[in-house]
Amino acid sequence: MTICKTTAVAAESVADRIAAAVAAKPNVVLGLATGGTMEPVYKALVRRSAAGLSFSAVRVFALDEYVGLPPDHPQSYRVYLRERFVDHVGLDPSRFHVPRGDLSAEVAASEYETTLRQHGPVDLQLLGIGRNGHIGFNEPGSPFASRTRLVALTASTRAANARFFAPGHVPRHAITMGIASILEARRLLVFAIGPEKSDAVWAMVMQPPTVDVPASAVRLHASAEIVLDEGAAGQVA
Ligand code: GLP
Repeated sequence: MTICKTTAVAAESVADRIAAAVAAKPNVVLGLATGGTMEPVYKALVRRSAAGLSFSAVRVFALDEYVGLPPDHPQSYRVYLRERFVDHVGLDPSRFHVPRGDLSAEVAASEYETTLRQHGPVDLQLLGIGRNGHIGFNEPGSPFASRTRLVALTASTRAANARFFAPGHVPRHAITMGIASILEARRLLVFAIGPEKSDAVWAMVMQPPTVDVPASAVRLHASAEIVLDEGAAGQVA
């Protein structure tokens, strides 16, 4: 576990790890997360790209996507990743994969698992954590054997993400990579910032792994690293 003094230093340290993976393997397969936490990481990676690091052969899998939004909806995770990262680093669009929230969920989930099998495993999976301990959109209770599938969002997750949507338009469902799909990555990198995540971070690292805290599944992985700022580390430092 790495605890950094400030959020900015923590984000740079996450970006350093991702940049090193890209430098070591230009066709690296990255699993990417969304959310406010990751914004400074993508900013830092765009700067690395401008400074000469090539992302042209990198492949990207997004962790999850809302259901019912068209792919060009400004709050879709496809647009989030394009606007903050993909469109600014010269990534080949055919190497950018996001679950299709506009298709039947069953078709979209099985297509995604097929694409993951075809191009995987993911070399480095970046993960944020929800206040309730979710990873991707695997809410508490998600089986550790779960794969990419349709999920219902909890009231707390919908409330946390409500700021991005017009009132009454917060999606109720998402397609997410499952916990087992996530754990198939060669390496996991969990990044959490701010005191509002400190309870979830405590539950992730201090208790035996439990389905009540989906993020605790990362401890079953042989190569999982956690980077925190001091706020998120408040209860474990
Ligand atoms: C969302 C995403 C997760 C993300 C989490 C935390 O619900 N599905 O992948 O890690 O919330 O988001 P934030 O960084 O905005 O707190």
